[in-house]
Amino acid sequence: MKKRIFSGMRPTGALHIGHLSVLQNWVALQDEYECYYSIVDWHALTTGYEDKTDYQQLIRDMALDWLSVGLDPEKSAIFVQSQMKEHAELHLLFSMFTPISWLERVPTYKDQIQQLGQEGKDLHTYGFLGYPLLQAADILVYKAQAVPVGEDQIPHIELCREIARRFNHLYGHVFPEPQAIIGKVPLLPGVDGRKMSKSYNNAIAISASPEEINNKVRQMITDPQRIRKDDPGHPGVCVAFKFHKIYSPDLERIEIECREGKIGCVACKKYLAENINKVLSPYREKRKEWEEGDKVKQVLLQGAEQARNIAAQTMNEVRKAMGI
Ligand code: TRP
Repeated sequence: MKKRIFSGMRPTGALHIGHLSVLQNWVALQDEYECYYSIVDWHALTTGYEDKTDYQQLIRDMALDWLSVGLDPEKSAIFVQSQMKEHAELHLLFSMFTPISWLERVPTYKDQIQQLGQEGKDLHTYGFLGYPLLQAADILVYKAQAVPVGEDQIPHIELCREIARRFNHLYGHVFPEPQAIIGKVPLLPGVDGRKMSKSYNNAIAISASPEEINNKVRQMITDPQRIRKDDPGHPGVCVAFKFHKIYSPDLERIEIECREGKIGCVACKKYLAENINKVLSPYREKRKEWEEGDKVKQVLLQGAEQARNIAAQTMNEVRKAMGI
């Protein structure tokens, strides 16, 4: 039998090319595993509870990003977390036996309170403390054995394993202890050299048009010591070169021509924009197909149905084990 995996993303706006390797990893896992991929809107609310966000639009956009890159509803269950009340029930039941100290010592907890506190967000809430517990419920309600995530999520997966262990110890064996699958994520900066982030407006969206790609690539910071086109360049300090490393097949040629002052930054960026566009254009084509009619809605409905089959069964076992 195929092993089962679960992963999720918060719907916080258009995904950018920094997210692409994560999604490509999810796509690659589809053949080997039984996959459950969820748009976790409740998790978005834990930090965005004051924002009065239109989550319906963000959910649709996220589903389109996923589908355009190649998540396939024939292979994977793609669904919205808040459509699955079982996650909420399991979260509640887990909360009965989870020591508060376990949640308080998750490294992201105090960090995030401090970091987002500086942006004026008060995260001294019950929901935010429970963020990793809800995540554990997401994963365990499908008895997922593995969870593809970024390195930053390792403490959350560790907590999830502890919750599974504690449940099994208290009520009898129901849950596996899931493993993290850490995908390799090449760290791409934003076009201004800072961290790539939508809020800095320095990111290239996966759905970007050729014009948008051109504009963003043109803004990339290059070697500041290079004044004239035939000055020798230093690829090591150039943001555009970091992107060439991922998107351009003939990296060596570019590096040499830059160092020898044979290619100017304008031409070099034009070539980079073409290469990025080559990668993104099939995704744009696929997105167009999925944008038609109510296709996205159907995918999410079908995904929720598949997910519910498993989640409902787990909850029966959980209730029975706990005597409820
Ligand atoms: N916390 C994850 C993140 O920020 C999102 C998430 C929520 C998740 N539930 C999950 C990831 C379950 C993996 C499994 O990226």
